[in-house]
Parts: sequence; structure tokens; C-alpha cells
Amino acid sequence: MSQKQRKILLGISGGIAAYRSLELIRLLVKGGHLVRVVMTPNAGHFVTPLSVETLSGAPVSMEMFGRRGEAAIEHIDLATWPDVTVVAPATANILGKFANGIADDLLSTTLCALRQDIPVCIAPAMNTRMWTNPAVQRNLSLLRSDLGRRLTVVDPVEKLLACGEWGVGAMAEPTTIFETILSCFK
Ligand SMILES: Cc1cc2nc3c(=O)[nH]c(=O)nc-3n(C[C@H](O)[C@H](O)[C@H](O)COP(=O)(O)O)c2cc1C
Repeated sequence: MSQKQRKILLGISGGIAAYRSLELIRLLVKGGHLVRVVMTPNAGHFVTPLSVETLSGAPVSMEMFGRRGEAAIEHIDLATWPDVTVVAPATANILGKFANGIADDLLSTTLCALRQDIPVCIAPAMNTRMWTNPAVQRNLSLLRSDLGRRLTVVDPVEKLLACGEWGVGAMAEPTTIFETILSCFK
């Protein structure tokens, strides 16, 4: 392992690209990093907690009000743990919540509770019309203009999307996201 071991909190939200976050977990673990994953309940429609747990080697956090032995207040525990936080894929919904301080599930509440100095990487993925929707772009601008926060957006790429349309909106390659995460420490 050439890089120092990092604690990486990965948020997975409910988009079709969620299956590609499995590859991202694999790259991170292979790189020797510690990975904890928070999935939105909607992400559970796209990838199973079992796959995520198997690849990350750690229990997945998903429920806001789940009963937990060790951590009494899980979103605070999660928010204070990482060296870097990544949301991949980031849905239009989670972007809007993060940008506006909305905290109505475990992932959005954890993002709301993050320390300002923890670097955050966001990899949006959505249909082109969602991506170009002025409200979505406004939320991204809000996040980008939060100067107190070290936030990097790994922009989506143009290709044939899962919905069958051609356009910008596909999640960046897991290798690109992986390199962006590590570049936060340079
Ligand atoms: C098949 C399918 C694919 C979807 N893909 C995306 C997507 O790539 N990006 C996105 O922003 N929303 C996508 N959605 C819509 C989200 O799942 C929906 O907005 C949901 O509320 C997101 O919840 P979450 O952000 O809490 O995970 C998709 C929905 C379905 C049914």
C-alpha cells in the first residue's frame, strides 16, 4: 500500500449507478482503506446491503431509527468518523437535501452533521433532463459555493444512459472517483 490508510465514508443513494459503487468499494478496500457505507433506503432497491457488506467488510448503515448496540447516535458517530466522505452515486434528491440542510434519512442527516473541514466528494448520476434541471444545478452551485467546505464534484459524463437516452448524466468511472478521493489528501 503506497498511500496512507484512510477512513472513507461512502454514501450510496438510489440511482441506477448504485451497482457501480460496488466497484468503487472494491478499489478502496484493495487500496488498503477502511470503508463504511451508508445507504439510503431507496439505494436498497438497486444494490443489496449484503453485497455492500461483503465487499466493504463492515456493516452497512441504513436506518435512521434502527436499534444499535455500540453507537447510540449513529449519524453523529458516522459524521465524526471519516477522513473523507463520498456520495456515489448522488441522486438529484440527495444533492438537494445536502445543499439545503435537509435531514430526513440516515445519509442526509449524516451529511448535515459532517464537520466543515472533512473533504467531501460527490459523484452525481441521473438522467440528462434531471441533470440540466435548473433546480438541480442551483443546488450544485449552492454546494460549490460553500467556501468553508472542501467539496469536489466529480462531474457525470456523456454516454448512452440506462434510460436509453444519450446525454450527460452517467456517473463518472469508479477509477476516476477513486483517484479524486485520494487527491483530497495531496
Ligand atoms: C429505475 C430507476 C432509476 C433511477 N435512477 C436515478 C438516477 O440515476 N439518478 C437520480 O437522481 N434518481 C434516479 N431515480 C429516482 C430516485 O430513485 C428517486 O428520486 C429517489 O427518491 C431517490 O432517493 P434517495 O436520494 O433517498 O436515494 C431512479 C428511479 C428508478 C425507479
